Amino acid sequence: MLGIEHPIVQGGMQWVGRAELCSAVSNAGALGILTALTQPSPEALSQEIARCRSMTDKPFAVNLTILPTIKPVPYEEYVDAIVQAGVGIVETAGRNPEPWMPQFKKAGITVIHKCTSIRHALKAEALGCDMVSVDGFECAGHPGEDDVTNLILLPLAARRLKIPFLASGGFGDGRGLAAALAMGADGINMGTRFMVTEEAPIHQKVKQRMVQASELDTALIFRTLRNTSRVFKNAVAEKVVEIEALPGETQFEEIAPLVKGVRGRELFESGDLDHGVWSAGMIIGLIDDIPSCKVLVERIVAEAEEIIAGRLQAMLGQN
Ligand SMILES: Cc1cc2nc3c(=O)[nH]c(=O)nc-3n(C[C@H](O)[C@H](O)[C@H](O)COP(=O)(O)O)c2cc1C
Repeated sequence: MLGIEHPIVQGGMQWVGRAELCSAVSNAGALGILTALTQPSPEALSQEIARCRSMTDKPFAVNLTILPTIKPVPYEEYVDAIVQAGVGIVETAGRNPEPWMPQFKKAGITVIHKCTSIRHALKAEALGCDMVSVDGFECAGHPGEDDVTNLILLPLAARRLKIPFLASGGFGDGRGLAAALAMGADGINMGTRFMVTEEAPIHQKVKQRMVQASELDTALIFRTLRNTSRVFKNAVAEKVVEIEALPGETQFEEIAPLVKGVRGRELFESGDLDHGVWSAGMIIGLIDDIPSCKVLVERIVAEAEEIIAGRLQAMLGQN
């Protein structure tokens, strides 16, 4: 359906989902995704799509994240840029993609909507989305407010959805891929694992810190604002959690200077690990190297095949 060789997708990532990473993932036989809002304007997105095309002849997608932002975003113009560039696959995330669906469908675009609950997945299916990514509580970025992990969400998705779905959140190795397929998913979507690759356009210090980290090194911020975000547990994230724990309602203005998006971008550029916050999932506990995307994708697929054909097959006995 996506025209890719391996059932692995690289989810949209603010400041990380640029042509370098996207093309490397697609060249590895998986699906790379450019992040629309990483580009400062719709014109810059058109140029980034063209740049990515010059780096791969394989399919890739564009992520459009519809979330509350400090600065208003001209969504219509970003959608026009995606459609005009002839992109074949779009990953939508955040709010309901309904306003843009007629335009995407008219252009023959395959829409993958990323969501964190079964009710939102069913809504996406009803809206005509072609596929959903089901993001469990383990995931980096926005896990929603239900706190349901993928061991429950994925079998529920398999029971209730008619359209294909990707398992997202907490995936990074072959065991995860085999488990996702066993639970009914058609593939996996990974963010954090692809951040820690040679081609991810972020400072080496960020990647090294994530290699050292354990599964306990993420924090949930913005819980009090009902806009929960899972980020790397650095000094800034701990400060935000501390402010949110104070008695009384948290005002976004109190934490805004600490979490400004631009600080995350600067952190990725400078490698100053306490300059802002960055999204990271619990899978950091299972990441212990910085491979190329090709090595990573091939390793995950080989491990999953070995588990399915070896360990699982053996459990069926000889008959
Ligand atoms: C650094 C980073 C930035 C992200 N930014 C976005 C984003 O802008 N839009 C979006 O839809 N998802 C974003 N995500 C979420 C990923 O696309 C994906 O759903 C998530 O990482 C899956 O969980 P995992 O990290 O356990 O693989 C981001 C994730 C990371 C690690």
